[in-house]
Amino acid sequence: MAAPETPRTKGYYFEVQAGRRYFWCACGRSATQPFCDGSHAGTEFQPVLFVAEKDEDVIFCGCKRTATRPFCDGAHNNLPGAYHEDDPDSDANRAVGEISHGAEPEVRLDGECYVFATSRAKLEPHGNFSWCRIAGPDTGARYQSQFYAEIGEGISPVVSARDRHVILFVTQGEGQVEIAGRRFDFAARTGAYVKPGEAFRLHARTPTKLYISTGPALEALSFPDAMAHNFDGAHPERLAEIDPAQRHAMAERYFQMLVSKPHGSSLITQFIGNIPRSKAEPHKHLYEEALIFLNGAGMVWTERTKTRVGPGDVLFLPRKQTHSVQCLVDGGFDVVGVICPGDNPSINY
Ligand code: FES
Repeated sequence: MAAPETPRTKGYYFEVQAGRRYFWCACGRSATQPFCDGSHAGTEFQPVLFVAEKDEDVIFCGCKRTATRPFCDGAHNNLPGAYHEDDPDSDANRAVGEISHGAEPEVRLDGECYVFATSRAKLEPHGNFSWCRIAGPDTGARYQSQFYAEIGEGISPVVSARDRHVILFVTQGEGQVEIAGRRFDFAARTGAYVKPGEAFRLHARTPTKLYISTGPALEALSFPDAMAHNFDGAHPERLAEIDPAQRHAMAERYFQMLVSKPHGSSLITQFIGNIPRSKAEPHKHLYEEALIFLNGAGMVWTERTKTRVGPGDVLFLPRKQTHSVQCLVDGGFDVVGVICPGDNPSINY
């Protein structure tokens, strides 16, 4: 089959209306992108019909290489010439003001976007489990919540997020995580999935630090008196470990899916990525995202602000928030991302 033309190397944001029919241009020749104007006549391409079931915002593919037609699946990221670095010293970027942190853990950026420093957070103890809220309904999060916890050696209290999907990411420590009565070994840099209705606790052999993500958002964790043994055996694989063989290239960056649909997580998705020394072009996503910085040093940028980030900081990004991450050190940033709702971190516009 002949290759389609490439009218654009990223997606088209569009607000579709319930009941309306949209004919997406597959050949790339239309002058009314992303929609068909009949220019495919005489080619082997046919437009793709999409009938909207509800009012929603979508990203139509502009590169015409997507495998999820008519919507972007991130394939554009690896097209030659598609990835552009941004010059942090351009005139426009020099005008962006840097915000320094104060005593509080949050550094507010544009809109409801902010950076939360776990190093400045006041943790609330519950037995050997000390924790804080990073993002939740009270901070503007609509789709996910983020919590941070530190656990001393030994068995932690039982922790519940009620009917939410829960994703864990251990940054330090080793031991076992017990999910609804079933135990799994963990070490640093392990992700784990807890299904709605299940609770978890840690059997920590060494002091342990972890991030706890929920989807949908939740005000606070709760601590049931006992562990219910209601493990859902339909999804027995609950751990996600770093495996370089599972990396996906994304221009000069790469990422690996951690907890995602194969684990049973149908709403919220976790991945780990590496950002080399550079500044990406500003872009947006349709999902809400939290980026947990594991190492390195850098700067996060929004439209009008920027601030420095390092290990233990979390960037919370509302849907459609223009942003860019700049890594300032050799070796790059390792970053854990949590997106909700969504299962593909390479879709952007
Ligand atoms: S624009 Fe084609 S896959 Fe994203």
